[in-house]
Amino acid sequence: MTTAYLAAEGFADQLQEELRRADAAVIRRHERLFVCDGPALAAAWAANIWHDCIELPVASIGSAAQALRDLQRNWAMYAPLHHRRANLIQERLPHVSAKPIAFPAAAPTAPLGSWTLLAPDRLLTAQRCNSPFANGEVAFVPDKTGPPNRAYLKLWEALVRLGRWPGPGERCLDLGASPGGWTYVIAKLGAQVIAVDKAPLDPKVAAMAGVE
Ligand SMILES: C[S@@+](CC[C@H](N)C(=O)[O-])C[C@H]1O[C@@H](n2cnc3c(N)ncnc32)[C@H](O)[C@@H]1O
Repeated sequence: MTTAYLAAEGFADQLQEELRRADAAVIRRHERLFVCDGPALAAAWAANIWHDCIELPVASIGSAAQALRDLQRNWAMYAPLHHRRANLIQERLPHVSAKPIAFPAAAPTAPLGSWTLLAPDRLLTAQRCNSPFANGEVAFVPDKTGPPNRAYLKLWEALVRLGRWPGPGERCLDLGASPGGWTYVIAKLGAQVIAVDKAPLDPKVAAMAGVE
């Protein structure tokens, strides 16, 4: 059984160290992707985990696309190398919507596989991946006017991944809340927030209904 771990952008060293400490047997590294022997570990630094990876020899662009289509419909490409060839394969695959999510909304449920070209004539594929998002990256329709900083995106992502967010009648405790990006998200969802910090909240956030 082979599992591949895709490091979050900029965190390949951390993932490599995490895998070393967990005694994972790394068979090969393909830029941010670490291919390992054995079942999946819950790697914190992996943006996506590819389960039960299969290597397939592919003679041509057309046969690579056909091999992927024969396995399933939806595929996300990871192409750190052989970009041109990989893009030509991707063009022959069914379109997968990458529309940004308008929070709050559930994550896509359709199975999304991942593939990469290890070499021009060799595919690595995984039909089952941890993340429902291409390469584990969630794109959102941004809120450019409400929040006081960009921290809201982290909480949006966490809540979408959990598939659950607070609503009216629920109360949250935001420890270290200033300037209030997360408090803004919770209050906007209609829940109550007790925001605690030694620094003040942004006045616009402090004035929101449900913020204490
Ligand atoms: C990275 S900021 C939090 C950003 C916030 N989550 C947001 O969404 O805008 C960390 C905050 O923790 C607060 N903090 C750290 N240690 C604290 C302590 N001992 N008591 C109260 N606040 C603390 C800091 O004042 C700072 O405002």
